Amino acid sequence: MKDAQPRTVRLRDYRVPDYLVDQTRLHFELQPRGTLVRSQLHIRRNPEAVAQENGGADIKLPPLELQGVELELLSLAIDGEPVASESFRTSVEGLSVDVERPEFVVEISNRINPEDNTSLEGLYLSNGMYCTQCEAEGFRKITFYPDRPDVMSRFTTTIVAPRDYPVLLSNGNEVERGETEDGRHFVTWEDPFAKPSYLFALVAGDLQHVEDAFITASGREIKLQIFTESKNIGKCEHAMRSLKKAMRWDEEVYGREYDLDIFMVVAVDHFNMGAMENKGLNIFNSACVLASPETATDAAFQRIESIVAHEYFHNWSGNRVTCRDWFQLSLKEGFTVFRDAEFSADMNSRAVKRIEDVSMLRTAQFAEDDGPMAHPVRPDSYMEISNFYTLTVYEKGAEVVRMIHTLLGEEAFRRGSDLYFERHDGQAVTCEDFVKAMEDANGVDLQQFRRWYSQAGTPVLEVTDAYDPGTGDYALTVRQSCPATPGQPEKAPFHIPLKMALLDPIGNDMPLDQAGHTELVLQVSEAEQTFRFKGLPEKPLPSLLRGFSAPVKLRYGYTPEQLLFLMRSESDAFNRWDAGQRLAFIALESLQQDYRAGREMQLSPELVSAYRAVLQNRELDPALVAEMLSLPSAQVLAEEAGEIDAQAIIAAREFAEVSLGQALHEELLATYRAFTREGPYRPEADDIAARRLKNTCLAFLAATGEATYLALAQSQFESAGNMTDSAAALAALVNRGSEAQMHGALDSFYKRWQEDTQVVELWFALQSNSARCGTLEHVRALMQHPAFELKNPNKVRAVIGGFANRNFTQFHKADGSGFEFLSDQVIALDRLNPQVSARLVTPLTRWKKYREAVGSQMHSALKSIMESGQLSADLYEVVSKSLA
Ligand code: TRP
Ligand code: ZN
Repeated sequence: MKDAQPRTVRLRDYRVPDYLVDQTRLHFELQPRGTLVRSQLHIRRNPEAVAQENGGADIKLPPLELQGVELELLSLAIDGEPVASESFRTSVEGLSVDVERPEFVVEISNRINPEDNTSLEGLYLSNGMYCTQCEAEGFRKITFYPDRPDVMSRFTTTIVAPRDYPVLLSNGNEVERGETEDGRHFVTWEDPFAKPSYLFALVAGDLQHVEDAFITASGREIKLQIFTESKNIGKCEHAMRSLKKAMRWDEEVYGREYDLDIFMVVAVDHFNMGAMENKGLNIFNSACVLASPETATDAAFQRIESIVAHEYFHNWSGNRVTCRDWFQLSLKEGFTVFRDAEFSADMNSRAVKRIEDVSMLRTAQFAEDDGPMAHPVRPDSYMEISNFYTLTVYEKGAEVVRMIHTLLGEEAFRRGSDLYFERHDGQAVTCEDFVKAMEDANGVDLQQFRRWYSQAGTPVLEVTDAYDPGTGDYALTVRQSCPATPGQPEKAPFHIPLKMALLDPIGNDMPLDQAGHTELVLQVSEAEQTFRFKGLPEKPLPSLLRGFSAPVKLRYGYTPEQLLFLMRSESDAFNRWDAGQRLAFIALESLQQDYRAGREMQLSPELVSAYRAVLQNRELDPALVAEMLSLPSAQVLAEEAGEIDAQAIIAAREFAEVSLGQALHEELLATYRAFTREGPYRPEADDIAARRLKNTCLAFLAATGEATYLALAQSQFESAGNMTDSAAALAALVNRGSEAQMHGALDSFYKRWQEDTQVVELWFALQSNSARCGTLEHVRALMQHPAFELKNPNKVRAVIGGFANRNFTQFHKADGSGFEFLSDQVIALDRLNPQVSARLVTPLTRWKKYREAVGSQMHSALKSIMESGQLSADLYEVVSKSLA
């Protein structure tokens, strides 16, 4: 456990490292409770530090600082001589060693305990398999080291283990293997690329693997291997195909080739995040790599494709060019998320991918940007860096890169990325270096644009317009503002690319300039700005922020009639969808008002007819139709509300779903039938789209509660040949079926799949997410289920996270029982896994947005966490900032 009041680390205090490590030799002797680690570090005074600190002359050498947490130090030597006890100091953070020469070799041995490591950071055991997670600061839980990303070293790693751990893996190429005298075996790995310690990895276990090969553009053959426990060996094929697609795509789109001769992927069940890009040895959460048609949904197949690509892309955007310090995290994460989003868009439906990403941004990132943990894409300070692996750094960071792409255009962006990779290959750099490369390659000025990296909060764009029928002049006035966020009361205007078009009364895009362009990117850069268009024959309807060209909230006073028009005529698929969302939002707002006033609710007939038209449109991509039929999530409605009334939001959504199901049941059933396909499962875009639409229809039909439609769900449940159809039918029965149907389906599903970890996680999530069966009592019972494990983050996220984040009704119950439950779980988890506890607490941090009665209960739940005793640095940071 860390200090009660952790220190704040600030970007402005950054200093270059005093020493560099040219070579790192590691030697592991694996034992569950007492693994021995020996290291040999070839260290040299950093010339840059000499220049910076002492004006070029080293008068006295500073001590060597090595981070180390929860390590048992066994020996310490420099240049072969043991270091005398008065020449080094130890603390809870590591070692400080006096230095006599500017170049020397340090040898350290220490002991660690993987078996008791429940933090899943450093070296730990997962189902008997040894694995590591070093990003961001986990390497210091393995051995003493300058654990910072601007220290890059060449690593050689020897792993010694008993024979019942036949597979021993680390980064780079295998260079030696053999037996020890006592009957154990060893393997030595050498990574020719200098890397920071956070990219180190080690895996040891009784694993099987599948193997394939990839021929690079320059004709090199790369060996590809995916390792898992033997029971999952049949679930690797999709990840392998995704990997090969990603490798080809990065060559074609970015001109980036893989650099080692081997690329390995390992699946582990206990993992804090999705996956990790360790050099040549990516480690994945099983849920993000393993799939078979019988056991994985389409959503899982797509998630796997994008995460495999994400980690692979890091080999250039993250590993070859890495971060100078952790404030620059978005340098690799924002850019890599942008890259994987473009990859997924190219592999599947571009419009649908964009809609999914923007929904997520609006649902969760906007809320983060509006809450107590709001921070810029490049934060100025942190207590615990693990808390900054956020939607802001990842998703908003990707939006910032996307805006550069929009401002520069495809080709100029590629020139910028080429220059960036060429200029900084092998270096640890900053977000500033990225922007500078984009500028230098193209002779553009992104000075004001840089504010996207330093200012937090979601900007609001208010747009008004005026048309003069006499002259045909049309003026679009844009006002921008950005709410205050912690530590940033005032914001300067952002440079915002506003992609737009003007629609004529038939719905065609009007020519906007002499050249006949029908779409423009307006450069919004002032607090208020007017853009003028001349000689328009008719009053246009503006189509604004096409493709969601900037991460902002756009306000324009569209009438319901105009939104209906856009839903029919927009040529930009994203805006077409967004018009539907805006129309549904207006309808749901009015239902919430009815609910609060105790009036009978009445769904807008316009929304019903708009949905009917969408359902009957056979020209649209069925995946887009499914998206257009999906009502805004409860979280999006909450985010937009001045004051959140969870019960009103749920009542309104519920009423709308049931009403739409009743009013459109014939069209829904016809569509359901039209998109029910025979034939073997294929996780390809067209089939995924058909299933998506069919199952969206099923959910509306089941919402009516009518016996025929529940029977339809029941029969789909019984006959489904893939997990997508099976899980959708099960969800319909759980949410809408009778008690008997619900329990019958849940029981038979569990019996069939109890041996499959990923399916059991889905089974847990379906229950905890559901207002119907995911009551607090039921969630407590699930935690007693033999398949539940508090030490496994996937299980915690499925059961507790699902309840707190997605089960809006039950979690926000008026008696506050949901909040109290969550605070108890957070306290218990903090002792085991601080990264997980600090994330799990998120729903409580939004207490200020709720009605007084509810908000104060959330506030006291937070206070009870604070007063529960010694908190981890992770949890302390989130709770203290939320209470402030
Ligand atoms: N770099 C990883 C990614 O985005 C993130 C990651 C994986 C991570 N595991 C982690 C971050 C543990 C913090 C802690 O691809
Ligand atoms: Zn990443």
